[in-house]
Amino acid sequence: MLRLLLPLAGLAELLCAANIPRRTFGIDYDCNCFVKDGRPFRYISGSIHYSRVPRYYWKDRLLKMKMAGLDAIQTYVPWNYHETQMGVYDFSGDRDLEYFLQLASETGLLVILRAGPYICAEWDMGGLPAWLLEKESIVLRSSDSDYLTAVEKWMGVLLPKMKPHLYQNGGPIIMVQVENEYGSYFACDYDYLRSLLKIFRQHLGDEVVLFTTDGASQFHLKCGALQGLYATVDFAPGGNVTAAFLAQRSSEPTGPLVNSEFYTGWLDHWGHRHAVVPSQTIAKTLNEILARGANVNLYMFIGGTNFAYWNGANMPYMSQPTSYDYDAPLSEAGDLTEKYFALREVIGMYNQLPEGLIPPTTSKFAYGNVRLQKVGTVVEVLDRLSPSGPVKSTYPLTFVQLKQWKIFLLLLSDDVFPLTLYGSLLCCV
Ligand SMILES: *[C@@H]1O[C@H](CO)[C@@H](O)[C@H](O)[C@H]1NC(C)=O
Repeated sequence: MLRLLLPLAGLAELLCAANIPRRTFGIDYDCNCFVKDGRPFRYISGSIHYSRVPRYYWKDRLLKMKMAGLDAIQTYVPWNYHETQMGVYDFSGDRDLEYFLQLASETGLLVILRAGPYICAEWDMGGLPAWLLEKESIVLRSSDSDYLTAVEKWMGVLLPKMKPHLYQNGGPIIMVQVENEYGSYFACDYDYLRSLLKIFRQHLGDEVVLFTTDGASQFHLKCGALQGLYATVDFAPGGNVTAAFLAQRSSEPTGPLVNSEFYTGWLDHWGHRHAVVPSQTIAKTLNEILARGANVNLYMFIGGTNFAYWNGANMPYMSQPTSYDYDAPLSEAGDLTEKYFALREVIGMYNQLPEGLIPPTTSKFAYGNVRLQKVGTVVEVLDRLSPSGPVKSTYPLTFVQLKQWKIFLLLLSDDVFPLTLYGSLLCCV
């Protein structure tokens, strides 16, 4: 079908050659495909979270992704990473999302932006700022007015920044995801999704493709899909691809098939073994997906690191470790792996692989032995660990009541010390 359509699209371009070519991206429900600049388009994408890779390495990782034959990258925007305190926004340094988008664009990669407000991502509170909990009655991820007011305010900051980066405005962003696997959440609040749709349209305009992602079953799509948001699914290698896409067809009878999270590995939990998924399993299912002309995003292509205390947790409570390696094609450190080359080979059967050298694995240094010297016990260095001093309370206080959004509290008789704990303070080299 794609082959038949291509010459026609070529003809259309020829007829319009006198006009300045307009950058467009949309959905064609007749050809069950995306259409980019008037031509049928299928993307092979990979996930990279800018919040899990230091800015210094962004360019290297993006280039390695490009060299694997990818058309696009997919990234989440963690709200709590940018608005750590209510009304205080940070888009600098490692949080410079616009610079990240610019680098992707310069590398020749399109961007699929997963803007939240909720992202999951095994990220602290799924990207929602903990300060939302100061309002005790708040119902997160619902049309609760306190929650929606905060969402509107944040999106009023984020989305206008994203607008110039939309594909039709000259940038790399072809699609924007609203919420994340909402069908897996108990609330099933369609008014909430409708409010998000309205907010996103208000800031981004009518042209951009907005979409949702849910587990590949009618059960998940029931509360996760909404008219006006293109419904996509996610599923793992090794399963029944036909059955998974049939689930998407229950929500989208026509239009492009999309797996927004095709798992290249799996997440880890504290105390469990590192997840490992063999390359052959992934390569085989990836080939099945691509052979039917479907769109796919490899989650993750590079996992990276949960720096500081940004790791999330699952329910029942199981926290993620610092590493978000994910057994992805590029390791946590961005190193090329056997999986990278195995998947690149499959991608190369459908996309033309770029010419040129793949950036090599970065050299590592041997730091030798690191000598740790005891400075004192926690109580002995309390004035340095808890510069704000103790809070006195007859009854125990919650982290929220103390505005201590992460890290630790030390309870000594009826004093509570909010602790700021950095490795360098406790040891010296
Ligand atoms: C995969 O799913 C389809 C649709 O549900 C079904 O017809 C087919 O038999 C399944 N294939 C296998 C190998 O189970």
